[in-house]
Amino acid sequence: MDLAGRYPNLHVSRHPLVAHKLALLRDRATEPKLFRELVRELSWLLGYEAMADLTTQPITVETPLEPTAGAELEPKVGLVPVLRAGLGMVDAMLELMPSAEVWHIGLYRDERSLKPVEYYNKLPDAATVQVCLILDPMLATGGSSSATVDILKHWGAARIKQVSLIAAPEGVATLSAAHPDVDIHVAAVDRALNERGYIVPGLGDAGDRQFGTFAGPSSEPGHASGDEAAEVVRRLQRTLSGEE
Ligand code: PRP
Ligand code: URA
Repeated sequence: MDLAGRYPNLHVSRHPLVAHKLALLRDRATEPKLFRELVRELSWLLGYEAMADLTTQPITVETPLEPTAGAELEPKVGLVPVLRAGLGMVDAMLELMPSAEVWHIGLYRDERSLKPVEYYNKLPDAATVQVCLILDPMLATGGSSSATVDILKHWGAARIKQVSLIAAPEGVATLSAAHPDVDIHVAAVDRALNERGYIVPGLGDAGDRQFGTFAGPSSEPGHASGDEAAEVVRRLQRTLSGEE
């Protein structure tokens, strides 16, 4: 399926460094320390690409020799990491844009319904930034990202971009259908979701792999799923293939 042709808002990095680092990130032998470093490096590279169309305004700079024309970023930018896994992407983005504001959104995905559950949101009443970058390594069913976009649009953000390391086709379809104006920047789009809503081949659980929180075999991404989660995934896959 040609996803990039179908979803003009989808941008998959073609940078060889991204491909190299992503392969290391996927490797099950990669320990949390290296995993965190790779999340940071990939976020830097994807952030650089995602910000390529930010507008600038002309300024004059005094070099030691003479005045010259320069540029200054125009919009105020907000970084919106989705807790927990999005936390690992923040520092790299702040290196690129030290003046960005950071607004955390806490969501976890209910493992049976695969629906996002909001548990943290301290956004002030009115938007303080024009452009928001949602940071979340995994775009799986698209439920968490769609819910985050809903929150940010309600807040008043004028422009929203999603930056993720890996997306599933189902998640790209869900987010694009709900919010076609949101650009999606990723290192890769993988084959599909498994019956538990994990991206395959993917990298497993991005939060657990960053923070070393493995709760035993029943929390493994490949562990047998409940019927409800499997049905949610089948419904998303029917929608994607145009059957619904
Ligand atoms: C993961 C991931 C996304 C979400 C993606 O978070 O970081 O937020 O799942 O899934 P979706 O596209 O199907 O909504 P998780 O719920 O595991 O929480 P965590 O970051 O706290 O581990
Ligand atoms: N969340 C993850 O961390 N990994 C997946 O594959 C899907 C959701």
